[in-house]
Amino acid sequence: MPNQLTVLYENKPCYNIIFKDNLLEVVENIMKIKRDTSCKICIFSDDLVGKYYLNDLKEALADKYNHVITYLIPNGENSKTLTNVEKLYRELIENHFDRKDLLIALGGGVVGDMTGFGAATYLRGIDFVQVPTTLLSQVDSSIGGKTGVDFLNYKNMVGAFYMPRLVYIAPTTLLTLSDAQFASGMGEVIKHGLIRDLSYFDWMEAHADAILAKDLPTLESLIYTSCDIKRQVVQEDPKEQGIRAHLNFGHTIGHAIEKLSDFRLLHGQCVALGMCAAGYISKERGLISTEDYQRILRVIDRFGLPTKLTLSLDAGAIVQATKSDKKMEGDHVKFILLDGLGCAKIYKDVTDDEMLRAIASLQE
Ligand SMILES: NC(=O)c1ccc[n+]([C@@H]2O[C@H](COP(=O)([O-])OP(=O)(O)OC[C@H]3O[C@@H](n4cnc5c(N)ncnc54)[C@H](O)[C@@H]3O)[C@@H](O)[C@H]2O)c1
Ligand SMILES: [Zn+2]
Repeated sequence: MPNQLTVLYENKPCYNIIFKDNLLEVVENIMKIKRDTSCKICIFSDDLVGKYYLNDLKEALADKYNHVITYLIPNGENSKTLTNVEKLYRELIENHFDRKDLLIALGGGVVGDMTGFGAATYLRGIDFVQVPTTLLSQVDSSIGGKTGVDFLNYKNMVGAFYMPRLVYIAPTTLLTLSDAQFASGMGEVIKHGLIRDLSYFDWMEAHADAILAKDLPTLESLIYTSCDIKRQVVQEDPKEQGIRAHLNFGHTIGHAIEKLSDFRLLHGQCVALGMCAAGYISKERGLISTEDYQRILRVIDRFGLPTKLTLSLDAGAIVQATKSDKKMEGDHVKFILLDGLGCAKIYKDVTDDEMLRAIASLQE
């Protein structure tokens, strides 16, 4: 398996995704981007990831660069605020960071999205590198240039498209990740198979034991294949004017549940429920067979994700919440259904009744 992918932007090579066992080898790759050792570096991380990986990375960087600082937030979605980005700006100003300097995101999607947004806006843009450490961030959020923070009660309401200079993935970091967070990332992995690659879906079903045991070579294949799928989609449609919406499979109802559950469920758990619901509608429309639908539920369950909504949420309120999703076009929700396993399509005619029946199928 190759250990590198190149992401194109507007048909030109934009950044590499590098896969390596050793986290600290990221330093050698950063030195190719920032040759001048007087370049200042700020490692952005959270307290939990920091505990495992920050000191070693800071030391390895400080061996090569004169000025390395760190900026830590408390872990979790609650930290994804403008206030915390403001604190980052202050830190950068006090340490005289200028346009030539570099931010590194060491952590999951929260850290990655915030570092990217900080990098996009500080001095109208400085370089940043993604070092994703959750499965979700390795296969999804670190690729594609979406950055941002939550605002008021809205997820990712304020943000920018801004590309990293490098994405460096060390699958070994997943060995410290909790099983729940690992399962959450599997939600996106299952999605990748379902929307675009049936043979990948077959493969993950066949290798479920090794994946769940976090067997490293198996994880490496999984991360590589998922990154490649995400790369292809964002390359074809970087600003989400068409096919990038396929990545939203499971997210229309998933996001609605996530919001109404007050974030008591993890993102991947909500996406799993959303995929079950979208699968149900696809089956009702005759786009996939009953056997295919059952298989989707089986695979989701196999990877420790829910197929039933156990929180008591009102189905009508869930449908209502889908209408405040950012992925609206006029009055129509752009709903992604499966036209056969491995093939996503955008539908703008999914009715409230269909959604209600699909949500009922989650509550049976
Ligand atoms: N930019 C995008 O395209 C995009 C796509 C999907 C999701 N997102 C965003 O990503 C965020 C979710 O990302 P996430 O699931 O990575 O959550 P997260 O960043 O909150 O990480 C989850 C938890 O795992 C911990 N953690 C991270 N790496 C660890 C490791 N190696 N070992 C032990 N613990 C570790 C973190 O401290 C945190 O408590 C959301 O804010 C979502 O909006 C962005
Ligand atoms: Zn998602």
